[in-house]
Amino acid sequence: MRRSGSKTETEQPSTSSSRRNVRPTVRRPHFEFSSSLPRFYYKKSPVLTNIFNTFHALATPIEGFFIRDGQRIARSGKVTNPVLSEELEAFIKQEASHSAEHNRANRWLEEQGYPVKWAHARAQLALEQMRPKADDMLLNGMIAAGEHLLSEFGELFLSNSELANGLHPEMRALFLWHAYEEIEHKAVSMDLYYELFGNNLYSYAARLRGLWMIARAIVPVSLEIVQAFWKVDDVRLTLGNAREVLDYLFVSPAFASRIIRNFLPFLMPNFHPWNVHESAEHLERYRGLAVKDEWVAQN
Ligand SMILES: [Fe+2]
Ligand SMILES: [Fe+2]
Repeated sequence: MRRSGSKTETEQPSTSSSRRNVRPTVRRPHFEFSSSLPRFYYKKSPVLTNIFNTFHALATPIEGFFIRDGQRIARSGKVTNPVLSEELEAFIKQEASHSAEHNRANRWLEEQGYPVKWAHARAQLALEQMRPKADDMLLNGMIAAGEHLLSEFGELFLSNSELANGLHPEMRALFLWHAYEEIEHKAVSMDLYYELFGNNLYSYAARLRGLWMIARAIVPVSLEIVQAFWKVDDVRLTLGNAREVLDYLFVSPAFASRIIRNFLPFLMPNFHPWNVHESAEHLERYRGLAVKDEWVAQN
């Protein structure tokens, strides 16, 4: 199976995304959060809103980690497919834009009294502790795993109206836009991985190890941050609160169980994100809902 797009003499260079007419596009929407945005902006629930707040707090360190590695690959000159190089450039800029917009939300969270700077430092430390243990292949495996997870968040967000509609419109706009772009660039890191390291037993094992490393970095720190945020709102581990979280994760909208189910193909040797969801059509459908033409960056 052709993966990212090494060209033959008669073919133009292409990638798995460009062959589907999907082109990661850099946008700068500039979301604002007004005084009418309620503190508990997801279904008026302090328990569940703080899960979204944790996502805001994690976005900047995680995306910073991906950007740094993406820039290192771009500088290395190892990517010879010009279409993939362009997509890598767009991926880096999209992630920078996500980070900037979530930071607007983070500033709002700081004003509400949440320890965002502490959360950033914790997540950054957890990720950077992995870096010395990882060679290029492992780092890329970590990013491919993280990107698949984020694109599955994106799929869930765009396809599940209960999830999106539970959010106050000001936060919904940010999450829908981010969801859309995560799907738009979902194949870039995997195409890079196959282009740089091939698809063999060794690269497969490194990709699985990359998954383990990013999970080890992110899962404990996510739990730590959500607990710290709950503490600010005096949310205690009562039976009712536990039920609310479990219901959200496993019943409706079944956030965790859907994500886990769609994450499993990553464990397969021939994994490719387009094989999990053929999302090019979804993107077309959600274009008006999640992204606007006037947000497209001019540089
Ligand atoms: Fe992102
Ligand atoms: Fe991403």
